[in-house]
Amino acid sequence: MQRPRGTQDLMGHQILKFRLIESTAYRLAGTFGFQEISTPIFEHHEVFHRTLGEASDMVAKETYDFKDRGDDLLTLRPEGTAPIARAFLSEGLQQNLPLKFYYYGPMFRYERPQRGRFRQFHQIGIEHLGTPFAESDAEAIFLAWQFLTELGLTSKARIEINTLGDSDSRARYRTALVEYFQAHKSRLSADSLVRLEKNPLRILDSKDRGEQELISDAPKLAAYLNDESRKFFDRVCQQLTHLGLPFQITDRLVRGIDYYCHTVFEITTQELGAQGALLGGGRYDGLIETMGGPKTPSFGWAAGVERLAELLGESNEAANLPRIGILTADEAGEAEALKLRAELLNLPCEVHLLYGTTGVGKKFKKADKMGLKWVVVLGEKEVQSHNLTVKDLTTGQQSEVARNKIAATFKSWI
Ligand code: HAM
Repeated sequence: MQRPRGTQDLMGHQILKFRLIESTAYRLAGTFGFQEISTPIFEHHEVFHRTLGEASDMVAKETYDFKDRGDDLLTLRPEGTAPIARAFLSEGLQQNLPLKFYYYGPMFRYERPQRGRFRQFHQIGIEHLGTPFAESDAEAIFLAWQFLTELGLTSKARIEINTLGDSDSRARYRTALVEYFQAHKSRLSADSLVRLEKNPLRILDSKDRGEQELISDAPKLAAYLNDESRKFFDRVCQQLTHLGLPFQITDRLVRGIDYYCHTVFEITTQELGAQGALLGGGRYDGLIETMGGPKTPSFGWAAGVERLAELLGESNEAANLPRIGILTADEAGEAEALKLRAELLNLPCEVHLLYGTTGVGKKFKKADKMGLKWVVVLGEKEVQSHNLTVKDLTTGQQSEVARNKIAATFKSWI
C-alpha cells in the first residue's frame, strides 16, 4: 500500500522542524494577542464554494468535495480563513470584536504535486477580525516578518505588497482590463479566456509565458484607485517603512482567492523553485458579509509550513535533546531500570532503555549507533553498591556517580 499522491509521512528531523516552526509562530502570535482556534478539517460545501470565488482555481479545480453517508455535501478545507469566518458567525461572536485568531493545521488541495506543493499541507495563520485600520495590516505583516526573522529566514525572503482597492476602484479597473484584453483576445491562453469572462483580474496572475508581455502592458490598478483606497494603501506602506520592513510594491500581485480587497501581500523566496510563496494574505472586508453576517473588516495571512521547513534546510535549531541510555547488564539491572528512568523524569533529555540479553558490548555498539551521549550501566553490582558508572560516548570518559546523585549530576551536565 502506498500513501496517496501529494501526501507525506512526516517523521524524524522533518517533524522536529515542523514543531520548531509551529512553536515559534505560536509564541510570537501570543505576544501580539492572537488566541488559538481549531476548526474542523471538513466544512459544509458552501463555506468555501460561496466565498473563495467561483473562478478561482481553488474552487474550480482543487477542492476535495464528498458526500458523507447522510448525503451531506462536505469539503475538506483548502484554507483556514473561510472556516474562521464561519465559526465567527456560528459561534455568535459578533459582540466580541475585534477578535484575533491563530491557527495551525492541515489543508487539502487537489493540485499537481511538485516541489513545495502538496495535496495535504500545513498552514500556520492569523486572522484579525473586525479591524478597519490600515495600521492593523502593517501590524500583521510585521508579525509575519518577525516570524521569519526568528526562524532565520529573512535573508532568503522578501515582502511583496499591492492594493486591490475598494469595490468601487476594482469595478472601474475591471472594465478597463476587460476592454484591454478583449482587444487582444487572440493572444490569451485558454485559461485566461475563461478568466476574462469570470474574473479578469486573475489574468494578471497568469504564469503562461506567451502572455507575459501583454500582461505587463495592461492598465495598472493604481491608476483606477479612488482617493480613499489610495490613502488607505499609503498608510499601510508608511507604517511598513516606519518599521524598517523591506517591502516592494508588485502591481501584478492579485492573489488567488476572491475575498480580498485593499491590501494584499506575499512573502516570497527565490530558493524553492516555482513554489516561491512562503506566506500570503491580505484584507477581506466583505467575506463575513458574503456569508450572511454583518460587515466585518478583517485582515489575515497564512504560511506554508512545508515550504518554511524546506527553506530551514538541515542546519537549524530543531536539534534533538541530549540522549541518555540505561543499559541493563543482567536481570537485577532489568528489574531496576524503570525505577532509575523514573528518577530522570524531570530532566530535559531523552532516556532510552536498552533491555535484553544481547551482551553489554553489543549494547554499547547499539548505543553509539543511536547517537546516545551518555550510557549508564545497570546490573547486580550497581544495584547493590548504589553506585553507577556513566560513560560519555562522545569523549569515552567514565565517571562514578552515587545513585542518589544521578539526576542532579545529569542536570549539571545538560
Ligand atoms: P494561500 O496563498 O492560498 O492563502 O496559502 C498560503 C500559503 O500556503 C502559501 O503562501 C503557501 O506557502 C502555502 N500553500 C498553499 N498551497 C500549498 C500547497 N498545495 N502545498 C504546500 N503549501 C501550500 C490562503 O490560504 C489564505 N487563507 C491566507 C489568508 C489568511 N488570507 C487572509 N487570511
